[in-house]
Amino acid sequence: MQIITEPGLMQAAVEKLRLNRQRIAVVMTMGALHEGHLSLVEKARSIAGTVIMTIFVNPKQFGPDEDFHRYPRPFEQDAAHAKAAGVDYLFAPSPEAVYPEGFQTTIHAGAIAEGFEGTKRPGHFNGVATVVTKLLQITKPHAAIFGEKDAQQLAVILRMVRDLNIDVDIVSSPVVREKSGLAVSSRNIYLSREQRESASVLFRGIRQAGMELEKKRTDLAAIAEEIRAMIEREPECRPDYVSFVDDRSFITAETAEPEREYRLLIAAWAGTVRLIDNRLFKT
Ligand code: PAF
Repeated sequence: MQIITEPGLMQAAVEKLRLNRQRIAVVMTMGALHEGHLSLVEKARSIAGTVIMTIFVNPKQFGPDEDFHRYPRPFEQDAAHAKAAGVDYLFAPSPEAVYPEGFQTTIHAGAIAEGFEGTKRPGHFNGVATVVTKLLQITKPHAAIFGEKDAQQLAVILRMVRDLNIDVDIVSSPVVREKSGLAVSSRNIYLSREQRESASVLFRGIRQAGMELEKKRTDLAAIAEEIRAMIEREPECRPDYVSFVDDRSFITAETAEPEREYRLLIAAWAGTVRLIDNRLFKT
């Protein structure tokens, strides 16, 4: 596995690969790799001959009161995991290499980015869209793999790629879960044992929603309210938002119509750790 830190060198390496007709897939991460990231690499390997992983903790997607400075950065460990997973190139630039002095152009994500995580984290998706665009320009992949765990991020990126005619296939990969059902996340390391146990309520909520929809209930707002109450009853947790949305527009759906796709979005706090989870349901 080759480690590259300079955008120009990464672009030169990719240029050669493309001349040799190599199919390239990229997995973008902020490091602190876990099983979820490794499943993205596996997916990338299944569709491309060359896999690039990027590790970059992007300052532009963190708010001033968020955990940018204490975000875990175990680089040596990450590099070992990436190598073992079969990554061919690890692109790990410094913030100065990505945002050199004078940098001033950003992508403004549209309406999909406004609710939910967008409301809670103003500017977050503009930061994501900007860095994803830059990383696509630097790694020039045929495909880019993103986890469904960050469903709103995935929707923003899909929309952006379509809107800006970016020539790349965006491939999604399912949420990876711990035994308890808790979605794996780099931030899970901040959870105490009790909080971790309680946090599985997000997954229990998703399962409960599935059972209610199987009964052909159409009152999505009421189901979401029941899940919210379920999270409220959990000692270590408090809900942030629970809502069904139309999967394309990310607009809240109150009532289900037949033959449609709705995504249940859940965000909740376990202590000071904010967790998100989601599932797509078909009616
Ligand atoms: O999902 C993430 O880890 C980040 O938002 C991403 C896509 C790597 C952009 O910084």
